[in-house]
Amino acid sequence: MPLDARFHEAVAPLFVTGMGTEHVGPLLYSLVRMTRPRRVMEVGLGYTSPFLAQALADNAAEDAEDRAKLAEASEDDLRHSLLREPFFTDPYRPSLHAIDDFSGEGTSAPRVLETLDALGIQEFVKVHKADFRGYSTRIDRADLPLDFVWFDAGGPLEYIDFLREYWPLIDQEHGLLLLHFTYWNLTVHFDGQDHTNLLCGSIANEIKRQQMRAGLAARFEVLSLVEPHKTRQGSVTMVRKLAGTSMCRDRDFQEEMFEIYGAKPPAMPILR
Ligand SMILES: C[S@@+](CC[C@H](N)C(=O)[O-])C[C@H]1O[C@@H](n2cnc3c(N)ncnc32)[C@H](O)[C@@H]1O
Repeated sequence: MPLDARFHEAVAPLFVTGMGTEHVGPLLYSLVRMTRPRRVMEVGLGYTSPFLAQALADNAAEDAEDRAKLAEASEDDLRHSLLREPFFTDPYRPSLHAIDDFSGEGTSAPRVLETLDALGIQEFVKVHKADFRGYSTRIDRADLPLDFVWFDAGGPLEYIDFLREYWPLIDQEHGLLLLHFTYWNLTVHFDGQDHTNLLCGSIANEIKRQQMRAGLAARFEVLSLVEPHKTRQGSVTMVRKLAGTSMCRDRDFQEEMFEIYGAKPPAMPILR
């Protein structure tokens, strides 16, 4: 089932305005649909949870169709020609570990399970009512490494605790981590005046700083999306781990293209 009217009607009661995730839910849905992860984790449940679960359910249905195409259709079939066979070596049985201690004021986390039930997608989700800190040892080793993680719980100290414990559990090859509320609406004093603006928060800044300091050897890349109309809860920072062929090659564009295609294209513009 795509994100249709029935889905939106079922998930609406989980929405809490102050959590600010009205656009994050559909964003997570699309990212999970696109990256087809197998081992997903969410810390901080609520409105976003059914979007993740529905994406896994829809992925499973699409994956089954793709496998049927690979098994039966001729290679002239357009979908068949798009599919990358090594992905299909292992079965696709995705699961979402969803952790929340239900401590948040006004959180809809305790009502997530009944919504998943109503939508018939609870089979994809294991809800853990627990503090995420120290909980990683209780995750079944078969569900690691994680290839998609959405973190939306607590303040800066929780983010640090989370990164210390869970960063090593994210797959080095394409594992994706999304952190909520990483831009802060702060007043800073410069040029003799106070300026209030959205600022890349200290955690997102440190992640970016580490990436840039690592230079060509960086093992992750970073991108932040900002909702410029919000003072809080209006940003998502995505960190994608890199390995092998995803890491940056220190190769001149024209030389590399010549090596691959035997012809030299025009030079790339310098992007500033
Ligand atoms: C901002 S809300 C999550 C909002 C949710 N993603 C949504 O879209 O509605 C933060 C959640 O984190 C949970 N939480 C806070 N600290 C936690 C901790 N140490 N361990 C587990 N859950 C925690 C709260 O109970 C709350 O449900």
